[in-house]
Amino acid sequence: MNHQQPDHVTPSRTDKLLFTPGPLTTSSTVKQAMLRDLGSRDAEFVGVVQGIRQRLLGLAGVSQEDGYEAVLMQGSGTFGVEALISSVIPHDGKLLVIINGAYGKRIRDIALRHGIETVTIEGAENAPAVPQRVSESLAGDSGITHVALVHCETSSGVLNPVREIGAVVKGFQRAFIVDAMSSFGGIPLDMAGCGIDYLAASANKCLEGVPGISFVIANRAQLLASGGAARSVSLDLLAQWEGLEKDGQFRFTPPTHVILALHQALLELNEEGGVAGRAGRYAANHAALLKGMRRMGFREYVPSESQSHIITTFLLPQDPKFNFEAFYQRLSAKGMVIYPGKLNAVDCFRIGNIGRLFAGDIESLLAAIEATLSDLGVSTLDRIPSR
Ligand SMILES: Cc1ncc(COP(=O)(O)O)c(C=O)c1O
Repeated sequence: MNHQQPDHVTPSRTDKLLFTPGPLTTSSTVKQAMLRDLGSRDAEFVGVVQGIRQRLLGLAGVSQEDGYEAVLMQGSGTFGVEALISSVIPHDGKLLVIINGAYGKRIRDIALRHGIETVTIEGAENAPAVPQRVSESLAGDSGITHVALVHCETSSGVLNPVREIGAVVKGFQRAFIVDAMSSFGGIPLDMAGCGIDYLAASANKCLEGVPGISFVIANRAQLLASGGAARSVSLDLLAQWEGLEKDGQFRFTPPTHVILALHQALLELNEEGGVAGRAGRYAANHAALLKGMRRMGFREYVPSESQSHIITTFLLPQDPKFNFEAFYQRLSAKGMVIYPGKLNAVDCFRIGNIGRLFAGDIESLLAAIEATLSDLGVSTLDRIPSR
């Protein structure tokens, strides 16, 4: 038997660049951090988990002393959101979901599947949610116990006014749940100042880890008070927290390699200057992307003032020579992966600028787009519809 180590354990540098909302392009060192087999009950792993939980609280601007806890949950981001929604709303509670895109709808669907009484406010997919409408809903329905909002609606890139809506929710003394999946770590967020009681996010977006672990940051008093509400065993948020508190271990097998990658990713986030540093890089990526795309004639779906610097939705050109599938495949062949649209109202595609991407990568993408348009014979984009 040949016991020789392969000499290609270093991650390939030939991977395509991912201009998507996740999984994302990650650093070599984040990928390398996974090249270990660590026992999930080993003291070293328990220490890593504890360190991650502390760092996540810090990124949200809170601490255990302030009464907040970070609970890691196995699975992609949706598992964290489902653990949260299905665990903390009491059986006689009622959830108001503010919807302006696919991820708000997903929260509604999760709640309905668990038999949670749910009401919604639905707004346009290219406009931020309106605090006044939340105020009217809460004033008109004293049965609502919890309000859920998506911070950055990744389906369009629109950024919702989390602070203003938090102030409304707190004014009515209801609990505030925020899905900050695509913004956490990439847009500064003061959890307590925004009145957020529960926040869900995952490793593989602005934290630049790999997929497989999500987390909830919770107001401890609220979490403790939610006992008995969980509708599932594996996604029971309070039980998960109690397990982690008891002996630092997960109740069920954790994705050890993914957690090691997250640990490394958090060190790298810190080295970059924390959330402010990372937000600066993403904002520069976004500005360069918009400049280049506008120069080529593309139009965005979300007005500039409501866009996040996470992901941008571009309207599909009307030129009959423009075929999205061909456009996508040709860019992919050039090593650039973009993302299809996810909206009801318009035909569009999306370009993400989060992950281990820098100004030079955006320039490479823009050059590839220009060359692809020329390959396809799309000479002018002046027939792109206005919003
Ligand atoms: C705002 C938001 N919520 C939830 C999710 C779901 O996360 P996942 O696809 O990791 O389950 C995403 C994924 O893009 C998201 O952007």
